[in-house]
Amino acid sequence: MEVIIQPDYSEMSRLAARMVVEVLNTKPNAVLGMATGSTPLGLYQELVRLYKAGEVDFSRVTTFNLDEYVGLPTNHPQSYHYFMRENFFNHVNIQPQNINIPSGTTDNYPAFCEWYEQRIEECGGIDLQILGIGSDGHIAFNEPTSSLSSRTRLKTLAKQTIDDNARFFERREDVPVYAITMGVGTILDARKIILLAGGTSKASAIASMVEGPVTSMVTASALQLHSDTKVIVDEDAASELQMREYYEFIYRAKPAAPTG
Ligand code: GLP
Repeated sequence: MEVIIQPDYSEMSRLAARMVVEVLNTKPNAVLGMATGSTPLGLYQELVRLYKAGEVDFSRVTTFNLDEYVGLPTNHPQSYHYFMRENFFNHVNIQPQNINIPSGTTDNYPAFCEWYEQRIEECGGIDLQILGIGSDGHIAFNEPTSSLSSRTRLKTLAKQTIDDNARFFERREDVPVYAITMGVGTILDARKIILLAGGTSKASAIASMVEGPVTSMVTASALQLHSDTKVIVDEDAASELQMREYYEFIYRAKPAAPTG
């Protein structure tokens, strides 16, 4: 993993957007893995700005979202379908038929999950996966103790996640108990991954993910096994990292590597 510490949330979002644009400039028909949550909002806003400035084109891009709450229709304001439309898809030139988001209202979850995995494969696999992280170290909705080789499936949410996400619902009881989510194995198949985190509430999860053991108790730690993951954090989310100076040295000050 490469850890990149940025002074604040907006710098973090801008850097992540530049990385997405770089992938699209190299491969205009790239497949992007999309994340929801408050963390990637700044990244989406920056991508919309760059699109409006004519610096990026989404017309040939295909997207796959990580997850969706079970039971929420696509027009529910807390559904991830709604989130993606409002915060990103409605503002760029992506083709509606190229957008893929897990269904929270299918009547056959196992069949849908199998189809979703197949669809990712048919589209050539995910070139760049964007990720946030839960305060308990989960990625997508792969809660603690999820298999590190899991694929897209139905998952019961942990109490911590329900508590964290209750702020978006009127009452805690309204938070769905189940979600459909890409598995850790699905995520690890992406060619490149960028994980974003901001704020002190993520500091301990980031330290465990980067510097702790690979464990299903912190599903993000499985990214230690991925060969091209960049972790972009703000100062607060970096505050519990022990090797912080080393990461900064690598990113800002390293001398040119030997060529021979
Ligand atoms: C949910 C999502 C994750 C997201 C996490 C953190 O659990 N399924 O994909 O990373 O929330 O969200 P936030 O960025 O709002 O802290």
